[in-house]
Amino acid sequence: MVKNFKGVVVFLLMATFIVFFRQRTARTYRSTSQPNGFLPPAACLLVSNTTITPLKNTSHLLVSAYMDQRVKGLDVRIISIFRRDSIQPLQCLFNCGGHCNKTAFLTTPTTVLQHSDNFGFPFVTTDAMCSIPKNCHATHVTLLTEPHTERGSNLSWLPIRNKTNGSEMRFKFNFTVCISNLFGDYNNVLQFAQTLEMYRLLGVDRVVIYNTSSGPELSRLLQSYSQEGFVEIVSWPINKYLNASGGWLFSKFGGDLHYFGQLTTLNECIYRSMERSRYVLLNDIDEIIMPYQHNDLMSLMNTLQQQQPNTGVFLIENHIFPKRHFEPSGMFHLPQWDGVPGVNILEHIYKEDPDRSIYHPHKLIVQPRMVEQTSVHEVLKHFGRRYKVPLEVCRIIHVCKVPRESLQLEQLHVDKRLWDFHEKLIPNVDRVLQRVGLLLSERER
Ligand SMILES: *[C@@H]1O[C@H](CO)[C@@H](O)[C@H](O)[C@H]1NC(C)=O
Ligand SMILES: *[C@@H]1O[C@H](CO)[C@@H](O)[C@H](O)[C@H]1NC(C)=O
Ligand SMILES: *[C@@H]1O[C@H](CO)[C@@H](O)[C@H](O)[C@H]1NC(C)=O
Ligand SMILES: *[C@@H]1O[C@H](CO)[C@@H](O)[C@H](O)[C@H]1NC(C)=O
Ligand SMILES: *[C@@H]1O[C@H](CO)[C@@H](O)[C@H](O)[C@H]1NC(C)=O
Ligand SMILES: *[C@@H]1O[C@H](CO)[C@@H](O)[C@H](O)[C@H]1NC(C)=O
Ligand SMILES: *[C@@H]1O[C@H](CO)[C@@H](O)[C@H](O)[C@H]1NC(C)=O
Ligand SMILES: *[C@@H]1O[C@H](CO)[C@@H](O)[C@H](O)[C@H]1NC(C)=O
Repeated sequence: MVKNFKGVVVFLLMATFIVFFRQRTARTYRSTSQPNGFLPPAACLLVSNTTITPLKNTSHLLVSAYMDQRVKGLDVRIISIFRRDSIQPLQCLFNCGGHCNKTAFLTTPTTVLQHSDNFGFPFVTTDAMCSIPKNCHATHVTLLTEPHTERGSNLSWLPIRNKTNGSEMRFKFNFTVCISNLFGDYNNVLQFAQTLEMYRLLGVDRVVIYNTSSGPELSRLLQSYSQEGFVEIVSWPINKYLNASGGWLFSKFGGDLHYFGQLTTLNECIYRSMERSRYVLLNDIDEIIMPYQHNDLMSLMNTLQQQQPNTGVFLIENHIFPKRHFEPSGMFHLPQWDGVPGVNILEHIYKEDPDRSIYHPHKLIVQPRMVEQTSVHEVLKHFGRRYKVPLEVCRIIHVCKVPRESLQLEQLHVDKRLWDFHEKLIPNVDRVLQRVGLLLSERER
């Protein structure tokens, strides 16, 4: 009897404990991911159709949302541009499964990670990180300033991209080049066509270009490349939202945001390429990352990757070819290119030695899956090791106007590496220029 009584007490205690514990977990669960007061309007998910989406009640701008399960407990990264002096607590609002009923909307707190490079500008590239609520097949996300949002508020939703499990990845591309920004009336058509065709010969499969504005002929050429699928144009109307600076340092150039939002677009491009490209090249539009001991980028990277295991970031040294010095014979001054605006890179073979006494910028080849945040000349957060590639193995050919006008021809070095490709490069450039009606015909010359 006494024994039985003890048994009942133990049973009751256990039952109470289980019920209590269950409620507790349910409560904790609700407090971090509660059904929201939000009731959607008829069209329950107004999905943003622009690359830049202003966040209601704030000065911040949202760009895109990517699944990222490399950081434990923070599953979704919303690449954004935040105003540094007015960062408030935010809630991530998820839509689960594309449903429109009340229980399909759940919130979790937002973790705001500003990138360390802001160069003094009021706005900075920011990752708004969200953890997906339990039992939610999250399809869309947005941010809220108030946990309980009014009925019928028109929220702009971002689709959550790249939801596949990384382990079953098949790369569609080996190499993607990310060109951060086109702006002003950039119309350097000949150099652009030569550079893109050079990329193609080196094994690049895709060039992603963020377009704020561009000159008329260049726009035509870009459209043509984009129809063909080699170039992916992402519209980047940053000036509609901010007074984006044309310079890199706030104290010198003023404005709201570093260099037309270059840092944001570079990061966006890394995440866009995460699941589809083995490598990503981060360089400017007038730069070619050139292997000097291999015929293409794949054989270069196979060698480097073998020598440098567990390395995901490769730094490539920049070498400037001043455009005021021409190769004297003029053998590549071709008459069919006379009507094409821009620089003919084959005519510039004189290279400056980098002045290594000052900070000398590199550009990057990365495995996107090993990068979390990037800047222009360095990655900010990454996994694995980084490696400075020796200049005799690979360096950048950068034909441009030089600020350092002091160097004379005798102080420069002859580098004709581009000429090794002329037999294929010239007809390929002719073909694309012809396609957009820019090549001078025999008769017109
Ligand atoms: C986005 O949607 C709005 C409203 O539906 C429309 O006016 C606008 O043209 C669209 N923009 C783009 C780039 O599709
Ligand atoms: C409501 O949304 C939930 C997702 O949270 C879904 O499981 C459920 O089927 C939806 N109910 C209806 C009636 O659509
Ligand atoms: C904006 O602020 C108002 C007033 O505080 C609030 O009711 C509304 O839910 C907020 N909207 C968002 C999207 O956070
Ligand atoms: C939501 O959008 C509709 C149509 O675009 C508009 O009539 C309505 O006033 C908006 N509601 C709010 C709360 O902004
Ligand atoms: C990842 O997202 C980008 C941008 O939306 C897309 O082009 C790419 O195809 C996606 N990759 C996968 C594997 O879904
Ligand atoms: C990537 O490179 C490998 C090895 O060189 C090659 O077999 C494959 O076809 C390439 N893939 C693409 C998409 O070019
Ligand atoms: C680049 O953007 C400008 C400004 O919106 C536009 O006029 C131009 O057509 C765009 N170029 C391409 C190739 O999309
Ligand atoms: C935009 O920034 C420039 C400096 O880059 C400054 O001169 C100009 O006044 C600013 N314009 C506005 C509207 O803030």
